Amino acid sequence: MRLIVPQISVGKYAAALFKERFNKKKNLVLALPTGETAVEMYAGFVKMHKNGDVSFKNIKSFNLDEYVGVEACHPQSYCSFMQNNLYNHVDIKKENIFMPDGTAEDIEKECLDYERKIKNAGGIDLLFGGVGQNGHLGFNEPYSALRSRTHKVFLTKNTIAANSRFFTPPQTPPDTAITMGVGTILDANEIVILASGFKKAEALRAAVEGPVCAKWVISALQIHPKAVIVADAAACSNLEPATFEYFKNLKDEYSEIEKLCL
Ligand code: GLP
Repeated sequence: MRLIVPQISVGKYAAALFKERFNKKKNLVLALPTGETAVEMYAGFVKMHKNGDVSFKNIKSFNLDEYVGVEACHPQSYCSFMQNNLYNHVDIKKENIFMPDGTAEDIEKECLDYERKIKNAGGIDLLFGGVGQNGHLGFNEPYSALRSRTHKVFLTKNTIAANSRFFTPPQTPPDTAITMGVGTILDANEIVILASGFKKAEALRAAVEGPVCAKWVISALQIHPKAVIVADAAACSNLEPATFEYFKNLKDEYSEIEKLCL
């Protein structure tokens, strides 16, 4: 697993990495996240699209997760988040946008169908994600099976509290969601996880320095052949200085991507 702490912002770095990968493959199959950390990355995607540098017309996109019981058009649904931050501003085809349907009558079937759709698309080339304060990927909460597939999850109190900032009281986030499983995520060819702020520092320490364990789901990235965490200095504040130095001085394709933006 690679950690990169770019001099540019985490979102700008992620957008540059996307452009790099797009230049090599125009019909990428993406997996995309929601969350505040991803907003700047999407702004970067939109800017690159408006400049004519990238086109989404042959891109397929699968979202990592969605709340159960929330209509797609609800302002706090992840579907609305994606429309507002990305899909409404780029040339992606409607039929190439895939989101789990949290209002499906048969959630178990919906999860199986989602897995099938990913498979039919040829699998995920490039997966972007955020990380929860408790180390969750998508909505795979602590103690999720590390080989799980798309499934329904019960959110922890901490996650509900962390995500309640997007809901106007007295509304609160639902306590269940559909998420790609950890195994689904690990099947992607390349995984790019974004982390910013001190709130993510403990999760980042567990991800980079801890053992692979279900308590910190993000630690599963350690067994993936091409996983990178893009983090700011605050998110790295719990790392041992030697760990930080090691990754900071590493010269490889990920450090080259940063150079394109400096
Ligand atoms: C939610 C999403 C996660 C995301 C996390 C991080 O919990 N389900 O997929 O990683 O938010 O959000 P933020 O970037 O707002 O901290």
